[in-house]
Amino acid sequence: MNAPAFAIEPVRRNFKFPLKKSKITHWNGAGRNFTNFLNALSVFFPEGERFFIDSVRNYREDIVAPQLKRDVSAFIGQEAFHSREHVEYNNALAEAGFPVEAYEKIVAILLDNIKERTPKAFQLSITVALEHITAILANGVLETPEAMEGSDEGYVALWHWHALEETEHKAVAFDVFNQVVGGGLSSYFLRTGTFTFANAVFWPAVAAVYLDILRRDKQLTNLKGWRATYDNLWGKNGVLKLILPDWLDYYKPGFHPWDHDNRHLLKRVEEIIAVVGAPKTKATKKTTKKVSKKSQPQEDNV
Ligand SMILES: [Fe+2]
Ligand SMILES: [Fe+2]
Repeated sequence: MNAPAFAIEPVRRNFKFPLKKSKITHWNGAGRNFTNFLNALSVFFPEGERFFIDSVRNYREDIVAPQLKRDVSAFIGQEAFHSREHVEYNNALAEAGFPVEAYEKIVAILLDNIKERTPKAFQLSITVALEHITAILANGVLETPEAMEGSDEGYVALWHWHALEETEHKAVAFDVFNQVVGGGLSSYFLRTGTFTFANAVFWPAVAAVYLDILRRDKQLTNLKGWRATYDNLWGKNGVLKLILPDWLDYYKPGFHPWDHDNRHLLKRVEEIIAVVGAPKTKATKKTTKKVSKKSQPQEDNV
C-alpha cells in the first residue's frame, strides 16, 4: 500500500447549523431539482454513518497503532456529529411532507441484513468502499463552487463541513482494513468486489429516492430543473464528471485514499466558522432531541 508521507489527524467539530426548514426543497441556487438530489443523498447518511461506526468498532480491540486508535476515535466522533446534523436536516424534509422514515427504513433493512448475514471483514470492506464514494463526492462538492452558487448559506455550510470532514478522515477506515485484513490478492478482491457491490446498490437506491422526492415535489417534468442538475453533475464543471477518475482509482492495486492529495481543502473550515461560529470544543452528548426511531450514535471519547 502507498501510505502517505504525511499524517492527517481528524478533528471533532461540534457545529450546529441554522437550517431554514422552509427552504428544504429549494435551498440550492440551481433550484428544486438539484436541491432534491442533495436531499436524496442526505436521506442515506444517518443510517449509513451508524453502519460505518459499527463496522469500524467491530475491530476496535485489534487496532494496535496509537495514532490509528486516535484516528478511529475521531472518525467515530465526526460520523456521529454528521449523523446528528443530517437527522435534523432530514427532519425538515419529513416536515415538508416527504416519507423520510420509510426511505430510511429501507436503508436500515438493507444495512441490518449486511450486519447480520456477512462476516465483519465484509462489513468493514463495505464501509471502506462507501467512504471512498463519500470522499470523492466531498472533493467534488468542495472543488466546484458552481454547485452551491446562490444557495442558502446555512445549508452550504453544513454540506461543506460534512465534505471537509469526509476528506479529513477518508483514509481511517481504509487504514483499519489494511491493518486487520492485511494485503494480498484476497484482500484486493474483497476491497474491489465490495466496492462494485456497494456502487451497484447505492446509486440505484439514491436514484429511486431522488425520483420519488421529485415526483412528490411535482418536478419530474421540469426540464429546466433537469438541465440545471445535469450541468451541476455532468456539465463542464460537473461534480460527478470531476470525480470519475478518482472513482476508478479504487481498482488500482496499492491504492490509498491519500494518493489523491487534497489537503488544501481542509483550510476551508474558516469559511464554515464564518457562517456558524467556532465549534464547541467539548463534546456535548444527547443535546439533540430524539428525532429518529434509532438512538443517535454516541460521539466517541476514547
Ligand atoms: Fe460523514
Ligand atoms: Fe465518512
